[in-house]
Amino acid sequence: MEDSRIGLPIGTALDRFIKRFQDDFPYATGELSQLLRDIALAGKVVNREVNKAGLVNLSGSIGADNVQGEDQQKLDVLANIRFIRALTKGGEACAIISEEDEHVIDLHNKGKYIIAIDPLDGSSNIDVNVSIGTIFSIYRRLSPVGSPVTSEDVLQPGINQVAAGYLLYGSSTILVYTTGKGVNGFTYEPTLGEYFLSHQDLIIPEEGRIYSINEAASLNFSDALIQYLNYCRENNHTARYIGSLVADFHRNLLKGGIYIYPGTPTYPDGKLRLMYECNALAFVVEQAGGKASTGNSRVMEIVPQEMHQRCPLFIGSKAMVAKAESLH
Ligand code: AHG
Ligand code: MN
Ligand code: MN
Repeated sequence: MEDSRIGLPIGTALDRFIKRFQDDFPYATGELSQLLRDIALAGKVVNREVNKAGLVNLSGSIGADNVQGEDQQKLDVLANIRFIRALTKGGEACAIISEEDEHVIDLHNKGKYIIAIDPLDGSSNIDVNVSIGTIFSIYRRLSPVGSPVTSEDVLQPGINQVAAGYLLYGSSTILVYTTGKGVNGFTYEPTLGEYFLSHQDLIIPEEGRIYSINEAASLNFSDALIQYLNYCRENNHTARYIGSLVADFHRNLLKGGIYIYPGTPTYPDGKLRLMYECNALAFVVEQAGGKASTGNSRVMEIVPQEMHQRCPLFIGSKAMVAKAESLH
């Protein structure tokens, strides 16, 4: 069995992998490791909720007596509660930015880290048994630990991320993350309740054949984008669009492809959120040898002005993103 870049084979349990990684950093105190474990644990809980989502919506016969209050909330609210609870408990995080919360959640503690999270990505696919996910970014705070969290702490560019990744609740559940030393994927084995290394040192194919875009919006696309899509069609590409960013991204990461959510005249920054969708996947894709662009510039270099700000996204195989950029 081949070893991963940090010397552990396929099948290694996530905890062991995280521990080995921590041992590689002489001054690491284990706080980032703990955050990753907390995210993985909350992912297990959300995975369980996702799996029974269909059942709890059935009125009457199954679980109606037991399923009260919180369990009946919409899954994206529930996922938000689960992740915030997990990230708050250990004291490693001092602030959380979530898609589901208008303001920064300031934890007023001595934590070193700031987390940006999309607790449930692909909400429109929840009710129809299609893959959904969670996306996260982790930053180290810039101001001294113990002082009030500042807007500079919160609004950091993607290049400052210390870790980022996603959970995909799909035909199997997988946690994919990077700490800046490559990308690894851990598949969840529900009967053992453990994640195991299944995708080591992921590298996205430099060139791919899949393009993923919501073409219904094409009347608003720029000439450059229409030209690029024509190029895809003329060059034997194939279209795939799930409508869950995490799922579309993950497929393209493994198979080679490009995901595009462009800006349009009415929405120049598109739909996706810079801080908890674009940057995390940009860090992952760059670590896997791919590229993430707004169409003109590198996503991770944008300095956010506002925590919910949007950003056009061209992400995936390096050659495909470069080609789309060249037409822009
Ligand atoms: P969220 O469910 O977190 O609001 O994100 C939905 C996003 C993303 O997952 C997906 O790729 C995109 O919305 C789809 O948008 P369109 O329906 O406009 O194509
Ligand atoms: Mn989302
Ligand atoms: Mn969401």
